[in-house]
Amino acid sequence: MIALAGSPRMRDWAQSFAATSALARQYVGGADAAAGVATAQALRDGPGLRASLFYLGEYVATPALVAENVAAKLEVAARLGRAGLDVHVSVDPTQVGHVVDPDAARANVRAIGEAVAAAAGARPGVHGLMLDMEDASVTDATIGLHAMLVEAGLPAALTLQAYRRRTEADLGPLVRSGAKVRLVKGAFAAGPDLAFTRQSEIKANSRRLIDLMFSRAARDSGFYPIVATHDDRLHDHARERAAASGWRAGEYEFEMLLGVRSDVAAALAAAGERVRLYVPFGRDWWPYAVRRIGENPRNAWLLARSAARRG
Ligand code: FDA
Repeated sequence: MIALAGSPRMRDWAQSFAATSALARQYVGGADAAAGVATAQALRDGPGLRASLFYLGEYVATPALVAENVAAKLEVAARLGRAGLDVHVSVDPTQVGHVVDPDAARANVRAIGEAVAAAAGARPGVHGLMLDMEDASVTDATIGLHAMLVEAGLPAALTLQAYRRRTEADLGPLVRSGAKVRLVKGAFAAGPDLAFTRQSEIKANSRRLIDLMFSRAARDSGFYPIVATHDDRLHDHARERAAASGWRAGEYEFEMLLGVRSDVAAALAAAGERVRLYVPFGRDWWPYAVRRIGENPRNAWLLARSAARRG
């Protein structure tokens, strides 16, 4: 699946075939910002789910691609504002130039943060620039970008990874300052010096971090917990902790990926919880979709079958 995700020939083939696209559509909000926002609108109007829009510009190493990514983020923020939806945009630091030029990346992140604030205006909603967390080489820089946005008074949130050993220490000051934090398990390769590597350890650390995020002290400081996982045991754990410490639905949220365990997302929303879906959009949807497909054996089989029909 990793080889498929990286293959330009497979990408061109797949992106041009309707049947494969139909499979990928489950995971991708559309080929451009207008389609991504239309998906967000349909989620809001239908099952009552919120969205965080993510432009699919992966593997970015040139200033031209950085400029394209930034333009897409600015456009989607403006469109979300005009649609009256949450202006919620997810950003990878390396997408907006961290590898090419860290100073330019800071300026780009600030510009996107300002665009989010402008598009949101004074409208109620959960607006913000959500910083995704990439591999260990950019953790400090990503935390620094979040601090820069907060200091500038811009709406910001930060992703932390439960598999990293440092995360409990990173979370403490964010809880005390009333930040918005999205907790994920962590998706990038990291050795045992940096990360918990066994699933049981990652789950145990997720529960420990959820306990801190839903403590009474966190609630008193105005902290906003975001539990981003498809793991229903962790959903249950967060809901138990929330109830035990006096949190009400809507003072925190769950976040999942578009197309993954949609039944679980719908059930949480039906139970009164605030649920957001991460909605990726963009021309280059193939590498992202194939990774999601690869996580689910049934989807891999469907993809192979659709390829065999054509071969
Ligand atoms: P886990 O993999 O433990 O699975 C839980 C259950 O869901 C299992 O039953 C599994 O079978 C099922 N499942 C999982 N994928 C499925 C699929 N495609 N189809 C059907 N069933 C499936 N990581 C990171 O390092 N930095 C980041 O910034 C982010 N951002 C982010 C945002 C959001 C909104 C989410 C949901 C996730 C991320 N991640 C991330 C990814 C995260 O670190 C993690 O790799 C994945 O969420 C997988 O872990 P889970 O806890 O969700 O499910």
